[in-house]
Amino acid sequence: MAQLWKGRFKKELAKETNDFNSSISFDKRMFEEDIKGSMAHAAMLGAQNIIDKSESEKIINGLSDILSDIKNGKLKIDMNAEDIHTFVEGELTARLGSTGKRLHTARSRNDQVALDIRLYLRKEISEISDGIKKLINVICAKAEENKNTIMPGYTHLQRAQPITFAHHIMAYAAMLCRDLSRLSDVKKRMNICPLGSGALAGTTYPLNRKAAARELGFDDITLNSLDGVSDRDFCIELSAALSIIMVHLSRFSEEIIMWCSWEFKFVELDDAFSTGSSIMPQKKNPDIAELVRGKSGRVFGDLTTLLTVMKGIALAYNKDMQEDKEAIFDAVDTVKMCLTAFTPMIETMTILKDNMRNAAAKGFINATDCADYLVGKGLPFRDAYKATGELVAVCIEKGVTLETLPIDEYKKICPMFDEDVYNAINLEKCVADRRVEGGPSVESIDSQIKAAKEIVGQIC
Ligand code: ARG
Repeated sequence: MAQLWKGRFKKELAKETNDFNSSISFDKRMFEEDIKGSMAHAAMLGAQNIIDKSESEKIINGLSDILSDIKNGKLKIDMNAEDIHTFVEGELTARLGSTGKRLHTARSRNDQVALDIRLYLRKEISEISDGIKKLINVICAKAEENKNTIMPGYTHLQRAQPITFAHHIMAYAAMLCRDLSRLSDVKKRMNICPLGSGALAGTTYPLNRKAAARELGFDDITLNSLDGVSDRDFCIELSAALSIIMVHLSRFSEEIIMWCSWEFKFVELDDAFSTGSSIMPQKKNPDIAELVRGKSGRVFGDLTTLLTVMKGIALAYNKDMQEDKEAIFDAVDTVKMCLTAFTPMIETMTILKDNMRNAAAKGFINATDCADYLVGKGLPFRDAYKATGELVAVCIEKGVTLETLPIDEYKKICPMFDEDVYNAINLEKCVADRRVEGGPSVESIDSQIKAAKEIVGQIC
């Protein structure tokens, strides 16, 4: 297919150069955005009498036909075209003759590509947000079922204090709620229209930039034409937000992987979301979670690519910027794929409540509550802490737990202990008493679930 920029050149582009220069293999996915952007541009050109109204209409109809022909498979995107913009304009001209050639009046591929990426990513952000909302809902449903499922909470991967499984996984819902709000922030800054920036210096034609922007659902127009064509902050911001999502999914995956081990056995993944080994018949591996954890690396790489591509570019457009697309598309695709696999895996996993409860019974996770008991009897916390530490040492020596240590052993260390200590260190009570906002009690989990659902309902 012919280049758009032939006039000045005497020779054809070398095949190798064409392959190297071309972006059609990856920007073809923006065909719909490219066409819709062109339709809005053509409509504005007509409305401003920059081109004839009837020609504007012909262009819009021609573009609309091209769009449906691509969608229903009648028209194949020519992989010899330099990019999607060249292909669409070339096809329009092939269909409409010289009328098609008027489309590019007052426009450059530089503002066109900046427009297309924004339109494309805007749609992808909505899809990713929907995927995150689904995952939050699944987490909330699991939390509903596990408000009384006692498990050890950890710090340093050492058993620390009693919590519930609901409390643990609602932490991930909280992270994902922040992800939703981050995506919506990114969308706000992305939803600004660069059309009219031209190649870099705007144009002499009397455009109505705001009308075209409105037509395409943008909130505003870009402030400066050089920045309009050479800004890719929105790609960097999106890939940063996507990287943070992957940090969250990766941490969650890591826990699933641990919980699936015989050492923990806190959860069992559904067979549909686990794999076996070709040699070890007993194996059931959490491959999906491992892959999600692994794929986080790709997305962080994409963010690094974008930062590095952009950091040394003199204003305005430079071809380096064509490298933006593979990176941001990969980040978007990867996050979508991960969410698609991860959410049903969580939804279908079985929670092994007894194993969690047994793990909670070991490890002295009620030691803080034991110290708090003494504080309740009037001892300063630091003294109560020391006495409980000594009790734990006695338990370890005798091979018992705080629950099974006889009362006289308690009294030997501190006479303030009485039979009611056993009630005070009961794990269910320890959890129920943590009524503070954000804590593990049933009331607190109920309000965490409610708040997460509100966020899911509000953010679009
Ligand atoms: N394929 C190009 C890109 O993705 C489109 C813009 C081309 N502009 C130019 N001046 N060569 O960046």
